[in-house]
Amino acid sequence: MLKQTLISATQAGAAVIREYFNGNFKISEKEGVNNLVTEADHASEKAIFAAIREQFPGHFILSEEAGEIIQDSTYKWVIDPIDGTVNFANGIPICCVSIAIEHEGKMIMGAVYNPFINEFFFAEKGTGAFLNDKKLQVSQKGDLLKSCLVTGFPYTYLDAPNGPLDVFEKLIRKGIPVRRLGSAAIDLCWVAAGRFDGFYEHKLQAWDSAAGFLMVEEAGGKITDFKGDYYNPYQPHIIATNGHIHDELLRVVNGGTL
Ligand code: IPD
Ligand code: CA
Ligand code: CA
Repeated sequence: MLKQTLISATQAGAAVIREYFNGNFKISEKEGVNNLVTEADHASEKAIFAAIREQFPGHFILSEEAGEIIQDSTYKWVIDPIDGTVNFANGIPICCVSIAIEHEGKMIMGAVYNPFINEFFFAEKGTGAFLNDKKLQVSQKGDLLKSCLVTGFPYTYLDAPNGPLDVFEKLIRKGIPVRRLGSAAIDLCWVAAGRFDGFYEHKLQAWDSAAGFLMVEEAGGKITDFKGDYYNPYQPHIIATNGHIHDELLRVVNGGTL
């Protein structure tokens, strides 16, 4: 029932965003420049909440736009009603609904759905990660210099040592392709699918990464924070790779040379 509700809730959110896509919807700014929220984000969130509450009215919810809906439950749904809102607002079909289920502090299931290219990613702890029912496996590349990477940038300039632009510059100067799709959840799923060999980002929120993180783990990849410790989605730093390039990328993100 948990799995079925996760799938229905993700599909319900995705149906809403497909409906709004390229239409006339209201766009507002949040904190920072170009940090947008649209009418579709709120409508998607509403549809997702309805699907969850129908089956599990007592579960805790954490969702980007509504915040925390606190309940005394060991289950928490971690929701991004549209990941890639700037893409969505510009009619760029690289965006998705991302939902994870946390149980007793551990992510146990995740779904990420981009309805514009009909890619539904699903992962369950201990069972694997899937793209439209096809089991996923991370890539096998072992050389960072030959890798294809992806990253994202925060909405406000992050002026920290080894900040996003420093790391990006170092990789780009060596000729390493570093893509920027604009949706962290999709970035992570594409690492799980072996399309990218690694992903890193300096400032994510739990709703951006909770489902995608499980996807990478279940596809055989490695995810840590910038210290190399096991990833906790409630802190900002993430490195998710195929495992083989992890230590090298971690070193570069921490200021090491290539
Ligand atoms: C954003 C995307 C983007 C990442 C940002 C996130 P939003 O989420 O995941 O790829 O670089 O840090 O905030 O605002 O589109 O839900
Ligand atoms: Ca997001
Ligand atoms: Ca969002």
